Amino acid sequence: MGSSSTRKETVWLTGASSGLGLSCARAFVKAGFNVAAGARSFAASEGVTDETGYHIPLDVTKDESVRSFTEKALALYGPPDILVLCAGILVLGPYEVYTMDEIHRVMDTDFYGMVRSVQAALPLMREKGSGKIICFSSVNGLLGIPYQGAYTSAKHAVEGFCESLSMEVRPFGVQVTLIEPGDHRSGSSAYRAHAARAAESAAYHPSFENVTAVIRRDEENGSDPERLGEKVVRLSRRKRMPLRKRIASPDQHLAVFLHRILPGRLFSSVIASYYRTYRK
Ligand SMILES: NC(=O)c1ccc[n+]([C@@H]2O[C@H](COP(=O)([O-])OP(=O)(O)OC[C@H]3O[C@@H](n4cnc5c(N)ncnc54)[C@H](OP(=O)(O)O)[C@@H]3O)[C@@H](O)[C@H]2O)c1
Repeated sequence: MGSSSTRKETVWLTGASSGLGLSCARAFVKAGFNVAAGARSFAASEGVTDETGYHIPLDVTKDESVRSFTEKALALYGPPDILVLCAGILVLGPYEVYTMDEIHRVMDTDFYGMVRSVQAALPLMREKGSGKIICFSSVNGLLGIPYQGAYTSAKHAVEGFCESLSMEVRPFGVQVTLIEPGDHRSGSSAYRAHAARAAESAAYHPSFENVTAVIRRDEENGSDPERLGEKVVRLSRRKRMPLRKRIASPDQHLAVFLHRILPGRLFSSVIASYYRTYRK
């Protein structure tokens, strides 16, 4: 980011209407960036500029919508210096009873949606010989937890995608960073659906209820989303961004460490016990 005498840098940001995307959008605007802010719900406020930037409707699951967002953002601010990809949804449920449609929906938003967004912006960054791509993964991109299976699968895909991508684009001056947040007090319940057949599957009760209660409690007591937004802005200003940046509580850092060193079966027992998975 340059001084006030230089051109204002431009951020394109997906999932800007809620949660961590909203906090990031606010933090970038506050720091003086142009922000082209995308979300589906911005169809109702298209063209409005507020504390989150300039609203452009965007559905990352639709090629046409990503194309239209790209054209509008490009016409408005020129090519992006920074692409921040926060759009995401979660469907909670036992893997046995997810419908394929539910799994597709999560993959299409959290993973394919990210790939679509990168494919739209990357040629512009490559042409100008610079760019920073910041992709929201999760601690769940590194380890699995029960009943977040579709989300965990999508976030693991995001991790692999970004790791490959970072090597491909570095010669063009484009950097890629994975943000791996732990629980933050931000996510809207609107994006945390229960699988349609979760309630009917008696075999998984009360386990499913126990686990979702712990997930809810941890999110409610999670870290401050505004601080995460500020950290992402600071990170984006670094000359060399790291490939991974975990923004999580000490417990969640410990979980990632244990995942690395413990035998898989033992680690799963620790996690299952934390989430009261087997408790009646
Ligand atoms: N909150 C946490 O504790 C936490 C922890 C780890 C990782 N994360 C990750 O951080 C990101 C933000 O999550 P959050 O929980 O903070 O936010 P959230 O409140 O769940 O908001 C989700 C955002 O994604 C957008 N979105 C959903 N489907 C979309 C689509 N098809 N096209 C475009 N935008 C779409 C929503 O906007 P519209 O409905 O208006 O489209 C909304 O702005 C996600 O990638 C999530 O996996 C969050």
